[in-house]
Amino acid sequence: MDAIKNLTERSSSGRLDPPIPSREELELVYRAALRAPDHKNLKPSRFIEVSGDGLTKLSNIFVEFAKQNLSDKGEEQIEKYQRMPYRSPLIIILVSAFKQEKGVPEIEQMMSTACSAQSMLLALNALNYSGMWRTGKLSFNRSISNLLGLADNESVIGYLYIGTNVGPEKKIEIPNSNDFVEIWD
Ligand SMILES: Cc1cc2nc3c(=O)[nH]c(=O)nc-3n(C[C@H](O)[C@H](O)[C@H](O)COP(=O)(O)O)c2cc1C
Repeated sequence: MDAIKNLTERSSSGRLDPPIPSREELELVYRAALRAPDHKNLKPSRFIEVSGDGLTKLSNIFVEFAKQNLSDKGEEQIEKYQRMPYRSPLIIILVSAFKQEKGVPEIEQMMSTACSAQSMLLALNALNYSGMWRTGKLSFNRSISNLLGLADNESVIGYLYIGTNVGPEKKIEIPNSNDFVEIWD
């Protein structure tokens, strides 16, 4: 795929079915992720790849999270969290592991992981797959980190739901760059 077309026309999809990327294709996706800008090369990003039975494991964790954290613990809410991981056949959990380093605050390390996420979405698009980056209550908190078994310095910055788009073709709106760009020359 043309690189500029990928950058300007990539879109997310919330309707994702199999097939998912092969092992070889996923290796390319991770290579793209690990080429993200990274101040002092601290390698803060870590990924948990979830598919197959792993989705059930994640579903159980989401249910536990809901039971521990939601103010509304009604059956409907719990079932909503139980179903969440099944919205796609593959999920990559985006983890940022903060390393103490002078001049590189945690926000920069999380931004590096965010760049990795975008690179993965672009790599997936180039390979004819699609994805959707989601956060919600299941990100940026110690409770979900503990339930996922993360270390004290690790936080979840989101989830890439991944598969093949089975939704309608998205109409890409072309923004007027004048609305967003100030030029000094
Ligand atoms: C950090 C981040 C968190 C997001 N969290 C959610 C989310 O929890 N739920 C959701 O529906 N979309 C979420 N989105 C938006 C979608 O990933 C997607 O960008 C949006 O639906 C627009 O689609 P597009 O990428 O095709 O323009 C998030 C995006 C970002 C960058």
